[in-house]
Amino acid sequence: MEKESDIERAGRLILASKYVVAVTGAGISVESGIRPFRGPGGLWTEYGEPPMDGYQRFLADPKGDWERRLKRDGYARELYEALEVAKPNPAHYALAELEELGVLKYLITQNVDNLHRAAKSQKVAEIHGNFTKLRCIECYSRYEREEISLETLPPHCPKCGGIVKSDGVMFGEPIPMDVLRIGQEETSKSDCMLLVGTSAFVYPAAGFPQDVRRRGGALIEVDPYETALTPLCAVSIRGKAGEMLPLLLDYIKANLQRG
Ligand code: APR
Repeated sequence: MEKESDIERAGRLILASKYVVAVTGAGISVESGIRPFRGPGGLWTEYGEPPMDGYQRFLADPKGDWERRLKRDGYARELYEALEVAKPNPAHYALAELEELGVLKYLITQNVDNLHRAAKSQKVAEIHGNFTKLRCIECYSRYEREEISLETLPPHCPKCGGIVKSDGVMFGEPIPMDVLRIGQEETSKSDCMLLVGTSAFVYPAAGFPQDVRRRGGALIEVDPYETALTPLCAVSIRGKAGEMLPLLLDYIKANLQRG
């Protein structure tokens, strides 16, 4: 009898699960032209990790920090130039279609690139923020970039007068409660978590799959390389997300019991 492929094993596991949640990282957007942070070709691998107290530095000098960030030197120039032009790839569209089919219940992303939304995923928690948005550090109101004038720095919140920063979560900054709560709630309901393109080094995102595993749920990862979570995974699909997720979607569509 022919050995079942990892795609088939993962597809069967997903179809047998009640509440599938996806967690995505930088790897899912590599085929959209955005470099990952760690590993081969990683931004931190080349430029070194930014200081872990980025947020404390922002609070100490919000005007200066805004001026520095708007200059976009070092890794920031390359990252933002890629973010500004990136388009969703087949991996983003496959997850959006799995949501539409009712197979994927929720998507938690660490990416700030807005590509899941651009691919029309609806149930998305962006736990590290979204680069197209700004956020008030007092009332947590979020704004589209165009809504806030940057003539005077730092900009202030039209609602409460608080200081406004990029919505992207800085190192040392607490994850905004609204998205963290969604991440924790959706994780607590999940019996199967699909991990796509994350090295699973950064918390709280790296804790979500461990919580699912601890409660007896199954983990599936899609990554060209081994990750910190590989030993905990029921299925590890070794390949690029843009190539593997459409295959997984096709298998699921072919085996999905309709109605
Ligand atoms: N398809 C799938 N996975 C890929 C691909 C690809 N085409 N290319 C690379 N990868 C994998 C890498 O092997 C690695 O395991 O994607 C992962 C990317 O890991 P990181 O660069 O560490 O990204 P991520 O896990 O999202 O980092 C978490 O760290 O620096 C912070 O805020 C930043 O949100 C980020 C967080």
